[in-house]
Amino acid sequence: MKIIEIDGGRKLNGTIRISGAKNATVALIPAAILTDEEATICNIPEITDTNDLCDILETLKVNVKRASESMIIDPTKMENIEITEKFSKKLRASYYFMGALLGKYGKAVMYFPGGCSIGSRPIDLHLKGFEALGATVTIDKNKYTVEAKELKGANIYLDIASVGATINIMLAAVKAKGKTIIDNAAKEPEIVNVATFLNNMGAKITGAGTSTIKIEGVDYLHKCFHEVIPDRIEAGTYIIIGALCGNPLKIDNVIPEHVDALISKLEEIGVDVEVGTDYVIINSGENYKSTTIKTAVYPGFPTDLQQPFSVLLTQCNGKSKVIETIFENRFMHIPYLRDLGADVTVKNQTATIIGPTKLTATSVVATDLRAGAAMVAAALLAEGTTRITNVEHILRGYEQLVEKLTGVGAKIRIKEI
Ligand code: EPZ
Repeated sequence: MKIIEIDGGRKLNGTIRISGAKNATVALIPAAILTDEEATICNIPEITDTNDLCDILETLKVNVKRASESMIIDPTKMENIEITEKFSKKLRASYYFMGALLGKYGKAVMYFPGGCSIGSRPIDLHLKGFEALGATVTIDKNKYTVEAKELKGANIYLDIASVGATINIMLAAVKAKGKTIIDNAAKEPEIVNVATFLNNMGAKITGAGTSTIKIEGVDYLHKCFHEVIPDRIEAGTYIIIGALCGNPLKIDNVIPEHVDALISKLEEIGVDVEVGTDYVIINSGENYKSTTIKTAVYPGFPTDLQQPFSVLLTQCNGKSKVIETIFENRFMHIPYLRDLGADVTVKNQTATIIGPTKLTATSVVATDLRAGAAMVAAALLAEGTTRITNVEHILRGYEQLVEKLTGVGAKIRIKEI
């Protein structure tokens, strides 16, 4: 097991460069099998999720050539075989192979996906979308067989603006006969990145980034080149760390509009933040005002940043609230924040935080990816040496976390125990 130790209480100064977006990458890699030639993708983050998806490509006999942060994916000799439970469970995004294999071959066989235990995370909307396109879904315990003689375009309304369901239905529909309309589609930037990738192959997708996406089925998808957008959640995490310990911290390679909701919240509580064309400079300060954040689908405040942001709220004067509306179990970091000295209580889907409180080092656990990021942020602030266990969760979504933080003056070590 890997652990991270952080000697906290230090100011951080310098520049952190943001990597390619995990939540785009984990959809782009499965989507790449849809091409009838080969796909080159650059700016891919070197994180464990990327490696896990490449392992799945290998089991499907897809030819993958990896350079440092780019990949050439050649599915021309691939085989449509069952993705085992072992591989399906490695990450939530394995389910994108369901849409991609269905879209390419008319059949997908795999198991219920893995992912952070932040809620029940059903996939009913994905399956409903596949059925609307003409597929039959057979479920045998955790095993899913989705198949269709012919996929036909359909009008699909999503009861929830689900990121995963929006992307998965897009993958299944690009080669379906006729037109598909996805209504109440999710609008996250990662969806736009995937739609652009598919259009670069010759797909006909319009409306990505709005709540209505239209897809005209095509017969052939050709060779293409594509770049992963910067990771807005990684950027947001380091921006929050800058508000806690920046002196100042420059976060480079950011698309500012992708972090709009965070920036406006930081300005509201009185954080000194400068937003440039593709960077953010942030200084830590004092006398931050308390506030309430309520998570929402894009462009609202992202659920993936509420856990790191709750660390900042422990330093704000007065009573702050975090209302989580997307997932039902996303407060697993709270007990560890309390162990560090925070005054936090949780009732139903609302965490109430009284600040400011001094945080003091102790041993904590990374219960899920973004809870782990919150522990790193708290440990950087806390006086003393904090030990974080289960850090495999964090390494899934933050490329070169230790190197990036060391580069701006953090005393952080990763150890195998
Ligand atoms: C994606 O998860 C992200 N993961 C999550 O990031 C992110 O928190 C989430 O979108 C919301 O933005 C990836 O992209 C790999 P959803 P996803 O489908 O697609 C319910 C991180 O930390 N729902 O938009 O699984 C679901 O239970 C991760 O990087 C259904 O009920 O999220 C949730 O309550 C965590 N039925 C809500 O919708 C379905 O069929 C939103 O889920 C699908 C979803």
